[in-house]
Amino acid sequence: MEAKTVSQSKTVKAMLVLPPDSNALGTMFGGQVMSYIDDIASIAAFRHARQQVVTASTDSVDFLRPIKVGSMVCMEAFVTWVHKTSMEVYVSVISEDLKSGERQVCASSFLTFVAIDEKGKRLEVPPLIPESDYEKDLYNTAEARFERRMERRLQSRKMAEKYRT
Ligand SMILES: CC(C)(COP(=O)(O)OP(=O)(O)OC[C@H]1O[C@@H](n2cnc3c(N)ncnc32)[C@H](O)[C@@H]1OP(=O)(O)O)[C@@H](O)C(=O)NCCC(=O)NCCS
Repeated sequence: MEAKTVSQSKTVKAMLVLPPDSNALGTMFGGQVMSYIDDIASIAAFRHARQQVVTASTDSVDFLRPIKVGSMVCMEAFVTWVHKTSMEVYVSVISEDLKSGERQVCASSFLTFVAIDEKGKRLEVPPLIPESDYEKDLYNTAEARFERRMERRLQSRKMAEKYRT
């Protein structure tokens, strides 16, 4: 399978934050941000695999700063690492005050997607070529995140077994 560069999966979405997306404090709902993160990350994974994908997991989402109504929010997603059928995607959420131009990273997350066919069978994904120093750094640190995710999945399975009703 032909390898692909990180930039081939890069996906960007910009939008104005409007009142229907906000809470009583005039800032964006966390759940809405998470939904957008999953949405844009799935497009980046789909672009890398050129196959249907499902979300296998989302690492912690840290809401570093509130996103105010009236500001612009810009999300960027790209594949950072691949294993056999799974892909790690990094998403950053940046707010921009359109008057001052001030930009701030408000949230970020790593997600993992698995490529599947129409019957749900898992499919191998193309290798990834990191090019910039930033991409190489994310690539070289991915295996340790993968190991932590596998450990977390084991714990989740144990919890599900222990507390099933
Ligand atoms: C995600 C899913 C396909 C994994 O398949 P599985 O048979 O349970 O798990 P496997 O152990 O065979 O793992 C398959 C791949 O997924 C990865 N994976 C599975 N669970 C994972 C998790 N929690 N986090 C990260 N990667 C995970 C594995 O590392 C493996 O990747 P690899 O092929 O690159 O090595 C399956 O659990 C599933 O369909 N879950 C529901 C997905 C869903 O409904 N998502 C929300 C809507 S899109």
